[in-house]
Amino acid sequence: MKKIVLAIDGYSACGKSTTAKAVAIILGYTYIDSGAMYRAVTLYFHQHHVSLTNKKDIIKALANIDITFHPNEKTGVAETFLNGLNVENEIRKMYISENVSQVSSIVEVREAMVAQQKKLGKKKGVVMDGRDIGTVVFPDAELKIFMQADIYVRAGRRQAELLEREQLIDLGVIIENLKKRDHIDSTREVSPLRKATDAVTLDTTFLTFEEQVDEVVSLAVTKI
Ligand code: C5P
Repeated sequence: MKKIVLAIDGYSACGKSTTAKAVAIILGYTYIDSGAMYRAVTLYFHQHHVSLTNKKDIIKALANIDITFHPNEKTGVAETFLNGLNVENEIRKMYISENVSQVSSIVEVREAMVAQQKKLGKKKGVVMDGRDIGTVVFPDAELKIFMQADIYVRAGRRQAELLEREQLIDLGVIIENLKKRDHIDSTREVSPLRKATDAVTLDTTFLTFEEQVDEVVSLAVTKI
């Protein structure tokens, strides 16, 4: 069977990661969470007090950052490691969500992450989700999905996810964060969030998780 690259882009908290993870398991593909990479860089910059306006420091810091993904022993789901340490839980915290879009707008950060993402997808058989996967990272991806959903539905889903990680965050705070990130992500100069011209739009507002997964898998099998 032919192996393809499946690119899933869209706004924050539309269900990209959860859908992509499930689709990857069904297809036997590797799932890569590109947002986790930007979150890990944000965590490193935070821990090492890297100034977001000092290009020299940014370049130096990027050279010291090693991001890898390893499956959880129990669940088998890939988790994010920063310089050998599991940071999966830490990078999902609100202080990271509040700063990640500023960090991901930095051209040097994007160049470093995009280069790694391209390498990870070289052999195909990958599902990667993010903001610029279908437009910049894999413009030749065989299948591109652009996900969107109502802001209140997105915020509710994100709130539930955070609760599972034992973080109780006010819905209003989440809505503001999603709006702010969408704005920065869509208006930044370097590879802004855009629907690729050949992407299929998937609105998940009224879809259950199972329906989202089915929809993407059905589209994928037509390309394999
Ligand atoms: O996907 P997630 O919401 O975890 O992504 C966190 C942030 O990382 C986004 O808000 C965006 O600023 C950045 N990002 C990006 N390009 C990607 C993936 C994520 O700029 N391909």
